[in-house]
Amino acid sequence: MTGGTSGTAGTSGTGGTVPGETARARQVADAFRELYGTAPDGVWAAPGRVNLIGEHTDYNDGFVMPLALPNTVLAAVSRRDDDLLRLHSADVPGGVVELRADVLEPGDGGWAAYPAGVVWALRGAGHRVTGADVHLASDVPVGAGLSSSAALEVVTALACADLFDLGLLRWQLARLCQRAENVYVGVPCGIMDQTAAACCAEGHALHLDTRDLAQRQVPFDLAGAGLRLLVVDTGVRHALGDGEYATRRERCEEGAHALGVQALRDVALERMDEALAQLSDPVVRRRVRHVVTENARVEEVVARLEAGRIRTIGPLLTAGHSSLRDDFEVSCPELDLVVEAALGAGALGARMTGAGFGGSAIALVDEGDADAVAKAVTEAFATAGHGAPRIFPAVPAAGARRLL
Ligand code: GLA
Repeated sequence: MTGGTSGTAGTSGTGGTVPGETARARQVADAFRELYGTAPDGVWAAPGRVNLIGEHTDYNDGFVMPLALPNTVLAAVSRRDDDLLRLHSADVPGGVVELRADVLEPGDGGWAAYPAGVVWALRGAGHRVTGADVHLASDVPVGAGLSSSAALEVVTALACADLFDLGLLRWQLARLCQRAENVYVGVPCGIMDQTAAACCAEGHALHLDTRDLAQRQVPFDLAGAGLRLLVVDTGVRHALGDGEYATRRERCEEGAHALGVQALRDVALERMDEALAQLSDPVVRRRVRHVVTENARVEEVVARLEAGRIRTIGPLLTAGHSSLRDDFEVSCPELDLVVEAALGAGALGARMTGAGFGGSAIALVDEGDADAVAKAVTEAFATAGHGAPRIFPAVPAAGARRLL
């Protein structure tokens, strides 16, 4: 394991603070006190993410490159010595959800399934976790493809790791959170989002090999290069559980099986044509082509970033979008419109980010063009009759951390 974030989860974090964060943490602690009558043992934060490149590669043992956003889920938490688990969210109406840590069962529904699933996964892995009082508050947009659920899982896991002194490494927390989401919540996601929330570092993108979870923190100095990375939330809401994501996974597995490899990661770009010629199903062929070319794009982006050539990565992002649109078929008209309008207004590159079928896109732009690009995208949406998109810059922030 490489990178500076592989220390135990109990360390104070991966560096960096977001402006206003301490004030938000105090507010969350105050709300906890009002709710439960005592001060919390601590307050933790875990971020949402955007993925720079490497989409739908994480369940093919491939490469991804997410960066953490300044937007976070905060959790004020106190441990309890009994098994009562009290969960409350400032963002969801309906009061405190009461569960018992010792009788949690996959299939419990609603937002509380995410934190409860983490407690379930920790206990299932043999960790001594009892009950807790939890109050959550998030400014990660929900359903926008920015991994608000992974942030919710990871903040719960980090708080538990600290409070119950579990001595877990951050990548282990990410794995347990993925298990919570796969089995307890029932969403068949890969490992990218949870690892991003747990392990990202300020000012960097995280290069992750999803086969062995080897990490590399890659400097991503947008401001130093006079660049901005705009996030465009299309407002189109997706649901990963709706079957399309699972179907993509199945087609990829079919492809790997037909090619006799453990995972599509094992198909090298140089041998792709030969591999494609062996596949009779045109859909599987397209899915395989996306994964193989996308892995190669990640490696090329890393090489360019590490060589200080951040300004040259734009066309690779755009090529990634075309591949997701045409070969993997997970884009939608709104995402395509963001990319088209951004490029038309001078963006260096643009692509959808996350699972697709809605959610968000990113555009790499010269600082001086940022307003023009945002305006062009907003106007294109208005002309097409879509609701106004929400546009904000992504500043590479730190992974999960303890705030108070
Ligand atoms: C979602 C999943 C991730 C990953 C992306 C697509 O965000 O949670 O594991 O598969 O989609 O790259």
